[in-house]
Parts: sequence; structure tokens; C-alpha cells
Amino acid sequence: MECVYLRWLFLAQFFMLTITGAAKVPAIIVFGDSSVDAGNNNQISTVLKSNFRPYGRDFFGGRPTGRFSNGRIPPDFISEGFGLRPFVPAYLDPMYNISDFAAGVCFASAGTGYDNSTSDVLNVLPVWKEVEYYKDYQKKLRAHVGEEKAKFIVSEALYLISMGTNDFLENYYTLPNRRSQYSVDQYQVFLIGLAEHFIKEIYGLGARKMSLTGLPPMGCLPLERTTNFFNGYGEGCNDGYNTVALHFNQKVGGLVQKLNKELPGIRVVLSDPYNVFTQIVRKPSLFGFDVAAVACCSTGMFEMGYMCDQLNPFTCSDANKYVFWDSFHPTERTNMIISEYFLKNSLHQFYG
Ligand SMILES: *[C@@H]1O[C@H](CO)[C@@H](O)[C@H](O)[C@H]1NC(C)=O
Ligand SMILES: *[C@@H]1O[C@H](CO)[C@@H](O)[C@H](O)[C@H]1NC(C)=O
Repeated sequence: MECVYLRWLFLAQFFMLTITGAAKVPAIIVFGDSSVDAGNNNQISTVLKSNFRPYGRDFFGGRPTGRFSNGRIPPDFISEGFGLRPFVPAYLDPMYNISDFAAGVCFASAGTGYDNSTSDVLNVLPVWKEVEYYKDYQKKLRAHVGEEKAKFIVSEALYLISMGTNDFLENYYTLPNRRSQYSVDQYQVFLIGLAEHFIKEIYGLGARKMSLTGLPPMGCLPLERTTNFFNGYGEGCNDGYNTVALHFNQKVGGLVQKLNKELPGIRVVLSDPYNVFTQIVRKPSLFGFDVAAVACCSTGMFEMGYMCDQLNPFTCSDANKYVFWDSFHPTERTNMIISEYFLKNSLHQFYG
């Protein structure tokens, strides 16, 4: 009797491990912007931070970590989905060290983009600097777990790469420089070239399993809706920005195909949030949300970072009813839905 029960338990566990793929991916390694930054910006001199309440109020222990949400962000859910820890720590976070980073680490920096000139705007980490930290990490990893094991972790880890929104919204459409050099289509091609260069660089350093994240419908971010409204275009999404996101994601898809053909042993997938995110924004009630047009924090129309103040009386009490946490970033619940979508539709390819 007991034996049958134990066998059942063993089988159930084996099955769980198989579907979560715990055996296949030893670590989650993250590059990108605020969509995936777990707190690296806390340690650099930029105004773009979120390591204070009400950020993190639904995170473990109610702790503001520097994640731009009320709780967890996609790499945290994806790590959990692969049977690893339910969070991925930031490389610059002094609370963690190389023994923690061996199972996953985040080099992302809020406000950055593929373009060096995007990271200059708010003085955050450019992508080349994220790669420098990654090299530093590899050195420490080799010293900590040995040459052989480090090589295994580096080549078998799943790399999540998520950026691009800031290149358009913080840089191209805000500052005159890139707009005077490139049409928006040319700028997309320029960014894709930078993305290719970046991927070839981490491939050269041993990375093999990668997910390139597409852009969300960035014209539906509450900040863009507010801007639309004040410019006299009504209170809807900025359709122009959404079209750019769609076109950019198509080009990212093309890059993914090209890299899979060109680079031996590489496995890159496109994780495209555009359609599921658009459904969430257009039909929030289908997903259990009440509000999609404004964010939870403060008035929900334009605040993020330091303007998202703990004492603001307008901040919502239940972030689970909101699609957006601040005017630029999703709530934990939206992050969870999108992560589950990725796990089912693109990342499942790395389960076995
Ligand atoms: C990492 O930190 C833990 C405690 O937080 C400590 O026990 C361990 O020795 C540290 N490891 C390294 C390699 O520094
Ligand atoms: C970005 O900056 C780094 C460091 O200065 C430089 O090596 C790299 O070539 C730059 N990338 C581009 C595309 O200009």
C-alpha cells in the first residue's frame, strides 16, 4: 500500500520535472531593460529607480527590490516555470553572491536599449556594459564551480533578452538626434543590426539557448495614452507606436531565423508578447482585470519611479485588478500571464 503510494509520488514528481524541464536548464540569465531588471539600477547613479514603496509591495516579504512592478517580473516566473528558484537576482545586488548567481542572474538595467545612445539618456547600463558584467560573472563562476561545470552552466542556461521599447519611446520619439538620422523603418533595421551583434557576442562567450522578446503594444502604455489625450488625439492607444512594435517584432522574427541558420548549435526563439498583451489591454475583463487604461500607482496617467509615491492617496489598493502598475510597467499579475504564455508558446522548446 505504502509502496504503491510512494511509486505514485515518484511518478508524479518525475512527470512534474519533465514538464517543468528542471533537468534541462541549469540557470536563467537575463539581459535587457526595466521589463526584466531585478534591481541593478539600485547600484548605479541614475534617477531611474524603484527600490522604494509602493514598488514591491506584493513581492516576497513586501520588499521593494528595484523591480518595476508591485511584485515579480517575467524572469522570476520563467525561472519558477523551469523548476528553478521563483526569482532571478540582480548581479549588482549586494544581498547575493556567486553561489546564488550560479542558478540564474540578471544583468538588465531599466531605461536601456539596443542603442548606446538610449542608455545615455538616463545614465543607465548600456548593453556592452551588461556584457562586461557577464564576462566578470563567467570568471567568478569558473572560480566557484570549476571549469567544467561553469562551461555546462553557460552553454545550457536559458538566456532571456528583453529590450527595445526605450529605443523608440525614450530615444527616437523623444530626442531629435536619431530622428534626424533615420526614418523609423531605418532605425528598426539599425536596432536589429545591434541586436544581432549583441547575440553573436554572447554566442561567442558560450551562450546557446536564447529567447528574444518582442515589443509589447507600446502605444497602449498608460503614459502614451495620456500623451495622446493631451495632444488632442483622444484617449485611446497610440496606433502609430503599436504599428512600429508590430513591424519591429516581425524583423526580430527574421533575425531569429537567420541566427538559427547561421550559428552552429544555437537555439533562439522569439517570445512575442504583442498579441496576448493586446488582448489583455482590449478585453481586460476576460483576464480578470477591471482597469487597463490607467495604472494602479498614483493617478495612473503618467507616474513612474520617484513620482510613484507611497503617500499618494490615489494609488489603488488591489493591483491584481489593474493591467499596469505604473504608467510604463505591467502589474505582477500581467507579468505572470505573459510569462505563462511564453512558457507554453515559445520557451517550451527548451524543456527537453
Ligand atoms: C555567499 O553567501 C552566503 C551567505 O549569504 C555564504 O554562506 C557563502 O559562503 C557565500 N559564498 C561565496 C562564494 O562567497
Ligand atoms: C557602443 O559603445 C561601446 C563602448 O564605447 C562601443 O564599443 C560600441 O562600438 C558602441 N556601439 C555602437 C553601435 O556604436
